Amino acid sequence: MPGGVSATARRNAALGHPFYIARGEGARVYDLDGREYVDLCCSHGASLLGHGHPAIRAAVQRALELGAVCAAETEYQVALAHRLRDLVPCAEMARFSSSGTETMMHALRLARAATGRDKFIKFEGHFHGYSDFLNFSWAPPLAADPTAPYAESAGIPRDTAQHVIVVPFNDPDALRAAFAAHDGQVAALIMEPVNYDSGCILPQPGFLQTCRELCDAHGAMLFFDEVLTAFRAAAGGAQQLYGVTADLAVLGKAFGGGMPISALVGRREVMEHMRPLGSCEMSGTYLSHITAVLAAQAALEQFASPGFYEQMHAVGERFYAGFHDVIARSGVAVRMQHCGPRFGLYFGLDPDEPVLNYRMAARQDHAQFLRFVRGCIERGLYVHVSAHHGFSAVHTDAEMDFALAAIEGALTDVHKEF
Ligand SMILES: Cc1ncc(COP(=O)(O)O)c(C=O)c1O
Repeated sequence: MPGGVSATARRNAALGHPFYIARGEGARVYDLDGREYVDLCCSHGASLLGHGHPAIRAAVQRALELGAVCAAETEYQVALAHRLRDLVPCAEMARFSSSGTETMMHALRLARAATGRDKFIKFEGHFHGYSDFLNFSWAPPLAADPTAPYAESAGIPRDTAQHVIVVPFNDPDALRAAFAAHDGQVAALIMEPVNYDSGCILPQPGFLQTCRELCDAHGAMLFFDEVLTAFRAAAGGAQQLYGVTADLAVLGKAFGGGMPISALVGRREVMEHMRPLGSCEMSGTYLSHITAVLAAQAALEQFASPGFYEQMHAVGERFYAGFHDVIARSGVAVRMQHCGPRFGLYFGLDPDEPVLNYRMAARQDHAQFLRFVRGCIERGLYVHVSAHHGFSAVHTDAEMDFALAAIEGALTDVHKEF
């Protein structure tokens, strides 16, 4: 396997090799030597229910008993769509596929089909999967022109960039200007409502409302990439959290309770552009595989159960308060930002100054961060080298205290070496 990994993101620059996992259980993972780690990666956010949750195991077992039939509709896809309609604000209709990348690709096509326009606006530092059209400007070098779409991979056709308009997050004037400059040409404004892929950058008060108003004024779709925010801090995702309803949204990661599924949801009149009702294609053998559909149904029951978010927020409140204390004691300049059970760290930045956009985030000291990650892993805390970290609904206060002790130790390492 090139680089010894199935996905580039599994490389671990802090270790110099991938972090190989033998198995996971609850809030913990075990390496190939049987060493135990408290997990603060949680499958990049997919394992919001922890590893091997009994309800997910039972759902997968049930799918196997049903013959794991695929490439066919069952009653379960319909039930899942109904459940989403109850929970997620814009979900008047739904389609399911296997990954965020795949669904984002289809959702962009749908936005273009529904508006008859090709261009879209995205925010710098926001990640929307790896398809050619969307793989732009999520981690450009600081030397790159912030207004020019930056292709994040070789092999993306050069003319793809002509459809991409890049704007800084949390800057209403820049967004207004971009809409005005491309009036009548913008199919969608695509965004992570909470920009976890640059750590954890929150939308400033009123910014999502401004996005909604500008989309309405210019006939563009407000398209939330909720792959990470779905079910994260609230059952209705960022739309519920911020009280802004999108036209289209893509849900992923936590949605499947660790199984591969993603949903494209949206307003009925937009979704009806899909074949066989309209002329926009979305099909595939493995779309909405029954194992993942049943797992997602089981996961939604957990998310909708009384006290689910209250319990997780209580664990988080205690952990984040402890984290701030540890940072203050450490003498290391590191800014921490969080939303629900996920957080971002910015080494080398003022602990008290909010990070509002990608350019601010990208000034962080990566070498310090890598040293920190190594220090955590050495102390039995699995932190990955990605931009965001987090815990699950089954992490206990005791496990989070263990995490804090490891974090304090790792910050001491950073303080000694830098
Ligand atoms: C915001 C966002 N969108 C899309 C994706 C792509 O999803 P997947 O990894 O399931 O293809 C990710 C994955 O990390 C993501 O964080």
